[in-house]
Amino acid sequence: MCGIFGCALLGDNSGEVLYASLKRLEYRGYDSAGQATINSGRILVAKDVGRIDEVDSSHGMSRMRGRIGIGHTRWATHGAPSRENAHPHLDCSGRIAIVHNGIIENFMELRELLQKRGHAFKSRTDSEVISHLIEDFMRRGEGFVGAVRLTAEILRGSFASAAICLDEPDKIVCIRRESPLIVGIGEIGNFCSSDIPALLPYTNKVIPLEDGDLAIVDPKGVRILDWRTGSAVEREVVEISWSPEIAMKSGFAHFMLKEIYEQPMAIRNVLRGQRIYYELAASMLRRASKVFLVACGTSHHACIFGSYAMANLSGLASYPVIASEFEAQYKNLIDEDALVLAVSQSGETADTLNAVRAAKAKGASVIGITNTMGSSLTRLSDVYIGQNSGPEIGVAATKTFTAQVVVLLKLAMELAKSGSPRSGIDSLAEELAALPSKMEEAIRTSEEKVKHIAMKYSAKGSFCFLARGVNVPTALEGRLKLLELSYLPALAYPAGESKHGFIAVVEDGYPVIFLAPRDSTRERIIGNMMEMKARGASIIALIERGDEELKELADDFIEMPPCANELLYPPIYAVPLQLFAYYTSTLKGYDPDMPRNLAKSVTVV
Ligand code: AGP
Repeated sequence: MCGIFGCALLGDNSGEVLYASLKRLEYRGYDSAGQATINSGRILVAKDVGRIDEVDSSHGMSRMRGRIGIGHTRWATHGAPSRENAHPHLDCSGRIAIVHNGIIENFMELRELLQKRGHAFKSRTDSEVISHLIEDFMRRGEGFVGAVRLTAEILRGSFASAAICLDEPDKIVCIRRESPLIVGIGEIGNFCSSDIPALLPYTNKVIPLEDGDLAIVDPKGVRILDWRTGSAVEREVVEISWSPEIAMKSGFAHFMLKEIYEQPMAIRNVLRGQRIYYELAASMLRRASKVFLVACGTSHHACIFGSYAMANLSGLASYPVIASEFEAQYKNLIDEDALVLAVSQSGETADTLNAVRAAKAKGASVIGITNTMGSSLTRLSDVYIGQNSGPEIGVAATKTFTAQVVVLLKLAMELAKSGSPRSGIDSLAEELAALPSKMEEAIRTSEEKVKHIAMKYSAKGSFCFLARGVNVPTALEGRLKLLELSYLPALAYPAGESKHGFIAVVEDGYPVIFLAPRDSTRERIIGNMMEMKARGASIIALIERGDEELKELADDFIEMPPCANELLYPPIYAVPLQLFAYYTSTLKGYDPDMPRNLAKSVTVV
């Protein structure tokens, strides 16, 4: 996601400090950068699309003077990458500047309200409402800090935001809810930052802000208030001993593990996605005579899930197809009534883009689902939905897979609104809102057990993943994760298919991983387990917490949180499979962030 940095210095070299710190946030991924400083009674702004060095050479970021400044690396979510959408954003008068990381859920209604009150917006971002809200409260007599506090109270969604104002030019005011924000206490001044690596050259004394914190950072000190009550709060100063490399990974050994842990947040961001895009996409799907779900790799597995979800919830039949096979298989079926729903984390996968271009050339409509705003897929799509997972640095897709699954589930639910009884959808929506906490629980409760199982089985030469129904795409994804990170020839099948060939491979000790939640597939899965067990297979089962019968049957088991609706199992059950691939890879001495022969984005056919 975006990165923010602010400095309140004893000297006036904030331009240089901001520029150097934004460079340290580069690893998070970004499409534009900018900074603002207060100098001689004015707010100076330098911002643009492109690399930080490019923005510096065209706009002189590092030469900006002033003791107080804020900076930003933007990773577009609302509004394409452009100079106007780059941060910092000013208010109408040019006296207030803000930077923001997160998603403001109610920005559309706030923007409308502010426009009616005479505010002129320059960008298409959700973030710009923050500077105008602060301005609006100040116009009504509030001081700078009070205005930021009132602004925090009416924002819905997630935010880490830093603001500066000419009326009180000696301070930065920061607020936080859900998005990370850390204050640094240094010798040359004080700081705020999205993460620790950017702070380390200046200080190792930090205060990680908590939800509801408002920090007033000036060159000589830091005060923290609770923006919900206005009262002062005490926060512990923590001394960091991480190396810069470990700090970039927030203390995790690899980006992949960090990204596995980021999944609850990534799902929260999907749940915050603007409804209007889902409504538009659903109305296109309803009108289409044929629907093709086109993608590669992990995104293809998400599409298989999407196809199950749309059929089960709304009765819509769709064809999930591997992008490189799309033309060969379906070119004669593509016409103006067809619709291609293309899913691509990067939005740049050549096979997926080629399939989209071929479909467009025959007049088909295109819906894109992607993690990368401004990517080729967003430009080729008639409508696109951003999955807002934040940049994924590990080559293996983790948080972007579970986010795609949830985007597709939301779309299926939107489609279902016109068809099936609302009560089913309403209870699913309620359970979906609790999914991020279930993901947290799945990570927390399964990691140690997975580590143990990975140690026990890491010397095996092959594995097979079996599941039924909506859990099949998760099994396929577990297989892909394991083979791409551990270079093991792993297999995966719908369990019913296992006796049509695969069973010939099974011998004493061959490890078979079953996805066996307590759902409509359970009885038949037990039958498949017995078949494998009878041939000497070692059974590793992902089971629902407290399923004693399966504990008896399996050689090893991992207990997962229960769900009332089986469509919620895939993102939860993906977690231990991702962890299993991660730990098997590290036990074998491989680098899970950079598996051999693979690229994060495959831009060749
Ligand atoms: C998954 O771990 C792989 N990195 C790969 O299969 C990937 O999902 C595939 O190349 C598709 O990428 P995309 O989602 O960016 O289009």
